Amino acid sequence: MLSENLLNGKLVRLGALNPETTANHWAKWRMNSEFSRLLDTEPATIPSGKATQDWMEKHLEDWLAFEFEIRTVDGDQVIGSTGLEGNIKFHADAFVGIGIGEPEYWSKGYGTEAMRLILAYAFLEINLHRVSLDVFEYNPRAIRAYEKAGFTHEGRERGRLLREGRRWDLLFMGILREDWLKTYQPI
Ligand SMILES: CC(C)(COP(=O)(O)OP(=O)(O)OC[C@H]1O[C@@H](n2cnc3c(N)ncnc32)[C@H](O)[C@@H]1OP(=O)(O)O)[C@@H](O)C(=O)NCCC(=O)NCCS
Repeated sequence: MLSENLLNGKLVRLGALNPETTANHWAKWRMNSEFSRLLDTEPATIPSGKATQDWMEKHLEDWLAFEFEIRTVDGDQVIGSTGLEGNIKFHADAFVGIGIGEPEYWSKGYGTEAMRLILAYAFLEINLHRVSLDVFEYNPRAIRAYEKAGFTHEGRERGRLLREGRRWDLLFMGILREDWLKTYQPI
């Protein structure tokens, strides 16, 4: 029997990413340097809504990418986004990115549920074999959320990042279809 609720969870649902509107949320979230430093190795910058929109449009055009807004079920608020991109066409392999930009929603289970939804989409809808991600050593909340969603630690680049005089590792995590299937339960 097919899963009926591929894009809908109890806390969040995956909605269409619309460069015109989603970009303004990203421009706002990027004003929080804590958020930017959790996502990017590059120096935290504050791109305008227009620059973000242009980037999103180009990104969606150039890449075979599946990108979604993360919306709360209660109140339908846009709180973040998630997406899959990479060697989808030839290797059934994708990189997953996720960011909840509204800090009041951190550590309340929203991110883990959003990750569970995008993994269900990855494995049930676009038939991927593997999903990968990387995460900074100084982001234990994300690491824990990914472990809860079923990711395995696969390696690290030691001392890859320099932040405020200290070096930090870049961690690699992944999940294979067969591992995911063993634990999958519809939300
Ligand atoms: C990473 C992110 C998606 C996780 O989503 P979330 O909704 O905050 O996470 P969840 O509440 O589902 O799970 C977080 C877990 O980490 C734990 N946690 C929180 N802070 C922690 C800390 N400092 N040390 C260890 N564990 C921590 C929480 O207790 C929870 O685990 P538990 O359920 O076992 O108690 C979200 O926090 C986010 O987008 N943050 C900003 C951007 C970012 O970091 N993106 C990821 C880049 S790789």
